[in-house]
Amino acid sequence: MAANFAALDRYIDRQIEAVAGYFGPVEAAAIDAVGRWQAEQGIAGNLAEIGVHHGKLFFILALLRQAGERALAIDLFQDDGLNTGIHAGRDTAFFDNRARLGIALDEPEVWTVDSLTLTAETLRARIGEVRLFSVDGGHAYRNVIHDMRLAEAVLADDGVMIVHDFFGVGWPDVSVAAIHLLTEMKDRLQPFLITQYKLFVARPAVAEHYRAMLVTSPRLRGAHLSERTMFDRPITLFNLGRRELLERRIKRKLGLYPKTL
Ligand SMILES: C[S@@+](CC[C@H](N)C(=O)[O-])C[C@H]1O[C@@H](n2cnc3c(N)ncnc32)[C@H](O)[C@@H]1O
Repeated sequence: MAANFAALDRYIDRQIEAVAGYFGPVEAAAIDAVGRWQAEQGIAGNLAEIGVHHGKLFFILALLRQAGERALAIDLFQDDGLNTGIHAGRDTAFFDNRARLGIALDEPEVWTVDSLTLTAETLRARIGEVRLFSVDGGHAYRNVIHDMRLAEAVLADDGVMIVHDFFGVGWPDVSVAAIHLLTEMKDRLQPFLITQYKLFVARPAVAEHYRAMLVTSPRLRGAHLSERTMFDRPITLFNLGRRELLERRIKRKLGLYPKTL
């Protein structure tokens, strides 16, 4: 039976703009393309994120779930004095957004915990093998190393890990930590896609399959494609084309994107 992605289409086309978060349309399209392709290829597994904030990315993962698959949202879900503007509401916004969007989650799919206290064993016991894992929790060196190690430990052989802010100018230690970890694990992890905000990584045996799929994906047709190398291996880059960027700015100005859910 073909998977039904109507709710995911609705979220990405009409609702995602109203959820505060830290990535743009190219990342949404790439995650969508990867997750759907996995389902179409019969690649099964669970879907997880460390660092959920208001749920912008996690809701894509939840809406990608197929029969028998589970999602896992890991976050401190805590507000503090540093959280202002779009950073505020970490204690409530995820839960409010989930309710308003009508995204059903079982209780074990949300884990309020400091990821630094988790081990590969405790995480595996909770979620098993993961086909799509977003690492976007604490941005300090030790958080990134720890969280990427956790993600690698449960990553399925044909799964994908997504690392946030790898090239983010505001977060140099994310890049340093990820480079250290990817160098140490170069036989087990290979970056295959770079977008403005994220680095996509897979097992070396399947990285080329993902690259081949992405360059022909209709979801990324509007994005500008380049080919480069990273760690001496080929990697694909996607940026938003100037026309699409302009179109989105105009639409936002005209109020064509929903302001609230
Ligand atoms: C950049 S935000 C995540 C953005 C989100 N992925 C999105 O789609 O918009 C980082 C999140 O990591 C969480 N976080 C920071 N340190 C953490 C830790 N040690 N354990 C769990 N979550 C943590 C924060 O509470 C925050 O919600």
